[in-house]
Amino acid sequence: MPHPSEPTPLAARRSASLTGTATVPGDKSVSHRALIFGALAVGETRITGLLEGEDVLATVGAMRAFGAEVTRTGANNDANDEGGAWSIHGVGVGGLAEPEGVIDCGNAGTAVRLIMGMMATTPISATFTGDASLRRRPMGRILDPLTLFGARSAGRAGGLLPLTLTGASSPVPVAYTLPVASAQVKSAVLLAGLNAPGETVVIEPAATRDHTERMLRGFGAEVTVEELPEKSGGGRAIRLTGQPELAPMHIAIPRDPSSAAFPVAAALIAEGSEIVVPEICLNPTRAGFYQTLIEMGADLAYENPREAGGEPVADLRARFSAMKGIEVPPERAASMIDEYPVLAVIAACAEGDTVMRGIGELRVKESDRIAATVAGLRANGIEVTEEPDGMIVHGRGPVDGRGGVPGGATVATHLDHRIAMAFLVLGLASRSPVTIDDAAPIATSFPSFIAMMQSLGAEIG
Ligand code: S3P
Repeated sequence: MPHPSEPTPLAARRSASLTGTATVPGDKSVSHRALIFGALAVGETRITGLLEGEDVLATVGAMRAFGAEVTRTGANNDANDEGGAWSIHGVGVGGLAEPEGVIDCGNAGTAVRLIMGMMATTPISATFTGDASLRRRPMGRILDPLTLFGARSAGRAGGLLPLTLTGASSPVPVAYTLPVASAQVKSAVLLAGLNAPGETVVIEPAATRDHTERMLRGFGAEVTVEELPEKSGGGRAIRLTGQPELAPMHIAIPRDPSSAAFPVAAALIAEGSEIVVPEICLNPTRAGFYQTLIEMGADLAYENPREAGGEPVADLRARFSAMKGIEVPPERAASMIDEYPVLAVIAACAEGDTVMRGIGELRVKESDRIAATVAGLRANGIEVTEEPDGMIVHGRGPVDGRGGVPGGATVATHLDHRIAMAFLVLGLASRSPVTIDDAAPIATSFPSFIAMMQSLGAEIG
């Protein structure tokens, strides 16, 4: 999706206590999937609370290009909420049309990878591209299993975008063991399996977010999940029976725990803060960050637990807390993979060291998130030890204590929304303001971020 060609720098300064309700948008992962499964169902799927960030709007455009009818039917009732109500008339499994133009997924790795899976077993061709960040990200991890189904691809060396994918005309089902714990790869294989006859099996080395499995069941597909014994390495085996007729459904998108991580982090490090984040998704495959915060001493409380869109949700209350560094268990990485940059920011404001290992995947996200986080923290006066697949943040404690984060520098965000938001949060609890070089990428996942943070009392601008 296009950003203004001129970068828009933005600064955050030390703020008095943050208070109020932090309404975060719909979950990005669930939003992409709702549109994609809606496009594959027969009949009308209705979605409420869709995240209307640039990443998800790229998926809207793509579903239209593949033949689905996608319409915005209205805004949500909640005035604080930019999420919308949408309707999709799907084309049915196997019914995708060949797009007339190039599918530009902007910054959205989830969109391009899931959509390639979706079309890989239908005999059509499509050409995919994205922004400078997405064109640097590895697609070989998707193309490898899709080739096993019978799809063919042609693109740049190393499996980089732009590339053209031609779906299999006689797809075969596949049994595939993921070489990396990736929900995007798992989901691409399951989506491809939908139009292959027989049973497609994915084995994942560690449990990754399971929204695809949940939603497939919701749309009427037959999916089983087996926990594999620890002695044979653990993980999960997911089995899908191919060529179902997907029945349309109504999906209320729960709010994004990865977006909620930013106001929650701000409340934990800005003295005297107390905020409530309503209705956030509590799916256990996404909960690692909050578990880690509790171990670091965070005062978090879940209120009014209930269900939305097939996912457990609750209101989360977060209060300013004395945080201490810990060693984050590497096996927790998959359940908090997008939250490490903002965890590193909290770690900078905590007493002691926070050790984060087993997170080499961060190097192939929207940016190299280990390098970007380390550089941003160091520029703002925090000592960090960088490792090939991890980092150790040497915390300076709260600003009113002996140390505190000096701040004062400008951080390079590398077209990465989560780096941008994480460092604005850092500025709220640093001695001197922290500036990011470009705020535009925030619109990919959290268009209302700045206004929402300002409404809590954050001095950003
Ligand atoms: C996502 C999976 C994760 C995550 C991304 C969203 C998804 O990526 O980082 O933001 O919706 O499936 P990987 O599957 O590459 O770990």
